[in-house]
Amino acid sequence: MIKEEGLSELRLAVFASGSGSNLQAIIDAIKEGKLEARINLVVSDKIDAFALERAQKEGISTVYINRKDFSERGDFINRLLAIMDEYRVNFIVLAGYMKKVPTELVRKFTGRMLNIHPALVPAFCGKGYYGMKVHQAVVDYGVKVTGVTVHLVDEEYDNGAIVAQCTVKVMDDDTAESLAERVLEYEHAIYPETIQLFAADRVDIRGRKTYIKDN
Ligand code: GRF
Repeated sequence: MIKEEGLSELRLAVFASGSGSNLQAIIDAIKEGKLEARINLVVSDKIDAFALERAQKEGISTVYINRKDFSERGDFINRLLAIMDEYRVNFIVLAGYMKKVPTELVRKFTGRMLNIHPALVPAFCGKGYYGMKVHQAVVDYGVKVTGVTVHLVDEEYDNGAIVAQCTVKVMDDDTAESLAERVLEYEHAIYPETIQLFAADRVDIRGRKTYIKDN
């Protein structure tokens, strides 16, 4: 269906480096009719990422691409951009992608690239705060509440306009692992819901703020 304004149907590339449980949540939401989008491609910088297996099991195309396999940065960028064209991607979802996305790709997908961060941005985020390090820092600091942030991607780590956030309680006996597990459950709910806001053309982006329009 082509909409009168905004994007036509979301044709996603999901970038993932690891287990891909967020990818799975997106796949499931699409299957359940809760998310109006197609996943045209799953991209990974890790050849053995479980996310790639999950995609293949669903018959979704996968591409492994890593900067280290290219001697020239320009060749890597051109290949990455060409892949996005080849698979007719019009929206990028970072789901546990551990590499910084090249500026050229960020610029091409301005307002059309999301990331999920397992804490309440602007706390416990930025360079060095990834994976279990985020949850360890949260536990070590002693905060009582953490959460999940879904934000647009710009050229700095975890810095783009925030689209959605939710809070998650930190328990007295939490370890980084137990907290990560609890936070992930919230991620699996909030990420598909937030992508659906874009599918329904409900996100108004004004500078570094977003406003969710009514249906
Ligand atoms: C999630 O906690 C996500 O917020 C972070 O990396 C983790 C990826 O988990 N960026 P998964 O690969 O989706 O299971």
